[in-house]
Amino acid sequence: MEITLDTRPLGSIETEALATYVFEQSDPVEGRVAELDRAAAGAIRRLAQGGELTGKTLEMTLLHNPAGLKAQRLLLIGAGKREQFTGAQLRKTAGAALRHLKTRSVKRFVFLAREGDGTSAAAQSITEGLIAANFESDKYKTEKKNGKEVQAAALAGWDDAARAEAEKGMARGRVIGESQNFTRDLVNEPSNRLTPRMLAQRAEAMAREAGLSCEILDEKKIAELKMGALLSVAQGSAEPPRLMVLTYNPPQAKPGAPVLGLVGKAITFDTGGISIKPAQDMEKMKYDMAGGATMLGVMRALAALKPLVKVIAIVPSTENMPGGRAQKPGDVQISMAGKSIEVINTDAEGRLILADGITYAQKLGCTHLIDAATLTGAIVVALSNINVGVFGSDQAFTDKLLASAKAAGEKMWQMPVDDDYREMIKSTIADIQNVGIGKGGGAITAAMFLKEFSGDTPWIHLDIAGTAWLDDPKAWMAKGASGVAVRTLIDLVMSY
Ligand code: BES
Ligand code: ZN
Ligand code: ZN
Repeated sequence: MEITLDTRPLGSIETEALATYVFEQSDPVEGRVAELDRAAAGAIRRLAQGGELTGKTLEMTLLHNPAGLKAQRLLLIGAGKREQFTGAQLRKTAGAALRHLKTRSVKRFVFLAREGDGTSAAAQSITEGLIAANFESDKYKTEKKNGKEVQAAALAGWDDAARAEAEKGMARGRVIGESQNFTRDLVNEPSNRLTPRMLAQRAEAMAREAGLSCEILDEKKIAELKMGALLSVAQGSAEPPRLMVLTYNPPQAKPGAPVLGLVGKAITFDTGGISIKPAQDMEKMKYDMAGGATMLGVMRALAALKPLVKVIAIVPSTENMPGGRAQKPGDVQISMAGKSIEVINTDAEGRLILADGITYAQKLGCTHLIDAATLTGAIVVALSNINVGVFGSDQAFTDKLLASAKAAGEKMWQMPVDDDYREMIKSTIADIQNVGIGKGGGAITAAMFLKEFSGDTPWIHLDIAGTAWLDDPKAWMAKGASGVAVRTLIDLVMSY
């Protein structure tokens, strides 16, 4: 989708549709909307007076051939209360506008930012929203239901003096929106079309195009490195594992900046292994590689945005299958760190592959670690499909991430990882076991397991099991992979 800036006066904008937003207040027809209303001979005010236009969040009012305007359609989107309107709201509003017009076969439209939103940050939010909204999960449909992609959008609401600022925001927004979609495309792939080897090829191709260095470790190299936890999950599958290492190395890192390690779980399919999952909903376990895909999307964006921080993505990938050679409940495995692990449940495999990923990240010199993983069903019980679960060993670092989540408009909620929970993963025969003993706290005991491997390195764990997949579409986004956490992590790196 082409996205440009349109600085023409409102009344003279010729387009298939002009979209803007109205606030929920005693008079929603004010500012730029009043200006449009005057041009349209009071048509908007009449709708407001008739109660059809209220400004309630995501209310859609579409006028055809509004007299006095050059636009063929005028779309007014409810934006809620002005005091509560944030960048996140603006992103969703722009996305919802695109999807509303797209289902009406509009190919080109203009999105008008309201007075006060003429900033570079707003241009970025709108661009991100439009690009994420134009993405469809229909790659394997021969007849594209929503194949009527929007081809071109223009942003209005900036004058020529603000052009440079607006275009800077738009360029950033494009990189971030397209990187989020890169992640979503990978997460949507079924497991027969994205094995660990194929994921590694996709990562390599992306790295080549973006200008990142990329190393793929095969099963032999993984064995040489004694990654016993990763190998134990892979041994039940006919498909060999891979470990991807992508590095962004700025020519000049900022003094005192961290070396950030991004470790992502990439189980291309999780059957549960010998502790097999029930058939109901098992097909969804193709998205168990979302954490890894998140980190790849972040790296894609960083290559273009060029922060002054060194970042290494470490993505361990395997299937979790119940083959004849599969590991069995009760088996003891030795991780790369040398810690012994009693595998009580083979379905708690994500923490096993991440354990070796975390150890390897430290070996590569990372001073700060963040992992992302569709790790537990328990996080869905705790936070539903609304918030990402955040666990952290260093509060200052965790606060920084939570601030980035806010800035990026992604909901995240901190969970505890205090030592009292450590008791729950003590094994009778090994150093540690892979599931918690006792009642509840499944997402926390999973995090405690990872924390054990992070040692003294400041570490954050994001449990995205509830948020990486949308069962139902949103007004601003197709159903399927959400690409959650990509924007937050980009914001975090860019904030150093
Ligand atoms: N991949 C799953 C977690 C998951 C559940 C992701 C639902 C997305 C949606 C993970 O590997 C798993 O199976 N976890 C188990 C752990 C249990 C055996 C301790 C779980 O959450 O049930
Ligand atoms: Zn599992
Ligand atoms: Zn899993």
